[in-house]
Amino acid sequence: MNDASFQFAANADDIPVGKTLPLEFDGQHVLLCHTKEGIFAIENLCSHALAHLSAGKLRGFRIICPLHGGSFDVRDGCATGKPATVDIRTYPVRVIDNRIEVQLG
Ligand code: FES
Repeated sequence: MNDASFQFAANADDIPVGKTLPLEFDGQHVLLCHTKEGIFAIENLCSHALAHLSAGKLRGFRIICPLHGGSFDVRDGCATGKPATVDIRTYPVRVIDNRIEVQLG
């Protein structure tokens, strides 16, 4: 994919470390997660029963689902806590100056 496939998502100032920001791009639900190691973008739907992860808690690199407590690593989308067992999608992110951009693909 080329650079043109990155889309503006938010300003970095809009998401303090430890916080998340839900976004929607043409029906794709994306959640930006600001960790100590940077900003990651994940699908904003739990793979267990499709709860919005934006209503959950970000703890370090883990996002904890608000519905049944399943969890995922926001860096790679891996399911890290039951009852979630199926990984979720992640999206490439880049930050240029203060602009966060996401590659949806
Ligand atoms: S919907 Fe997320 S753990 Fe069940």
